[in-house]
Amino acid sequence: MNIIKTDVLIIGAGGAGLRAAIAIAELDPSIQVALISKVYPMRSHTVAAEGGAAGVAREDDSFENHFNDTVTGGDWMSDQDAVEFFVHEAPKELTQMEHWGCPWSRKPDGHIAVRPFGGMKVERTWYAADKTGFHMLHTLFQTSLKFPSIQRFDEYYSTDLIVVDGCCRGATAIEMRSGQMHTFSARAVIIATGGAGRIFPFTTNGAIKTGDGMAMAYRAGVALKDMEFIQYHPTGLPGTGILITEGSRGEGGLLVNKDGYRYLQDYDLGPPDPSPRNKAMELGPRDRLSQAFWHEQKKGRTIKTPHGDVVHLDLRHLGEKKINERLPMVRELATAYVGVDPVYEPIPVRPVIHYTMGGIDTDINAATSIDGLFAAGECACVSINGANRLGSNSLTEILVFGARAGQSAVQILAADSPQVDEAAIHEQANAAKARIADLFLASGGGETVSGLRREMNDTMESGAGIYRTDASLRESSAVIKDIRRRFADIELQDKSNVYNTDLIQVLELGAMIDVAQALIISALERKESRGSHQRLDFTERDDKSYLRHSLASFVKGGDPEISYRDVTITRSQPGERVYGGGEQK
Ligand code: FUM
Repeated sequence: MNIIKTDVLIIGAGGAGLRAAIAIAELDPSIQVALISKVYPMRSHTVAAEGGAAGVAREDDSFENHFNDTVTGGDWMSDQDAVEFFVHEAPKELTQMEHWGCPWSRKPDGHIAVRPFGGMKVERTWYAADKTGFHMLHTLFQTSLKFPSIQRFDEYYSTDLIVVDGCCRGATAIEMRSGQMHTFSARAVIIATGGAGRIFPFTTNGAIKTGDGMAMAYRAGVALKDMEFIQYHPTGLPGTGILITEGSRGEGGLLVNKDGYRYLQDYDLGPPDPSPRNKAMELGPRDRLSQAFWHEQKKGRTIKTPHGDVVHLDLRHLGEKKINERLPMVRELATAYVGVDPVYEPIPVRPVIHYTMGGIDTDINAATSIDGLFAAGECACVSINGANRLGSNSLTEILVFGARAGQSAVQILAADSPQVDEAAIHEQANAAKARIADLFLASGGGETVSGLRREMNDTMESGAGIYRTDASLRESSAVIKDIRRRFADIELQDKSNVYNTDLIQVLELGAMIDVAQALIISALERKESRGSHQRLDFTERDDKSYLRHSLASFVKGGDPEISYRDVTITRSQPGERVYGGGEQK
């Protein structure tokens, strides 16, 4: 098998992976970085982010405010040392992006403009119209091109980590163009592969977000942390799940039910006359808004469509000029995908799976429990987002913890011996290759990727959606087990080598099954309601028993083992989440 030797291997070339690569190249240009991505980097899902990136910018804002909003929004499941670090680094990273060329939107006086976002009691979301992810990814990508030490391997699908004597020593990957398997031998590995929203049927996530990196780390022995917390964004387009940015509510958009009534006033989210500062309503946190939709639906106050029930997002009062300037993509998307021009009509929207708060268990240095293995971005759980991420914290997170992962990898190289056990690397690479070869040999099983994926999607929605119960989770757990059993009988329809998307989809499905099972079992074991994890049978938050991170450890052929670790509390004791009032300092 072809062996590619490098110092640091980064798997995933979206925002976090690129930021990590740049951090390494800036710290030491002699360190060789191999950057693997299953897509061309500009097609990474960061490109789809719309509304903005949070970081204290205004004089009347403070790190303390950002800290408090994040910890409260996460229903006290965030590790507060990580949040502290995050809020302090955020403005530095966003300013750095400006210096690298990110075209942040500005106020008429030339200062950076910030917009309100859900759960943030002070405006602190930097944005580039409503194409923030595109501009950030472009900025990072073009910056990465300056560094000869970063070597890209686009359209390589990484299959397995190589771990020798407790140290991560690389990974195997399929070069999709040729079908050839390569071994990347490295002294440190960073996973930055994004989330796993595709385990659900209706999601804002691109088709590539299949939890590959999470599954790789999990199978190699790193726990998946807080997987029960998955976020519904309140405003997705029916049918496609395409995101209609929270920025549209930040700019003043209103949510109304079938009677044209601003129903959020009934859900402890503040009075119907929001000042930008302290009356939440449409700018409440995403978990609460999505739960409010569920209740409206139960009351029969949502609007029926062929693509499920919806409510209306009304932007008409903003006027064409503001919509064109601040929300041009919202206008384009609504017009193209549901035939609604928001200048003249309200947009139909419904909650849609958007973000995995849980992920690969990392510490504040982006380090995992395996030496030399780091993770950053949505695939990781550091954890700043706790039980419910605030909108616009994740674009900043990929910068702050992407950079941190890069810095940590550089540090470990300095301490690590360059001698590696090449025989052990070969042995593991050959085992990975044999596993792929077996897929080509299997025939007659009759199971298809599309069939199993649909069943997995359906059971995730019905069993582990906005509200869950013991019975719904047990039912989904049984379905996932059955899917796992049948997955062994999957048959490749395409046995060729060149761009075998059938093979990649089988591997992605395998990853999704592992991640889905970790999510369900973690949710089953958390017998309380907190943030995005709402149990109809355990309706209260239970700090005494569950102010703890869940850790799902992989068990081959069985359910994961769940253990717990205390949340790090530094200065904010758990309290009530209040969104209707309360000024900040
Ligand atoms: O609505 C949005 O623009 C999403 C932002 C985010 O998830 O951070």
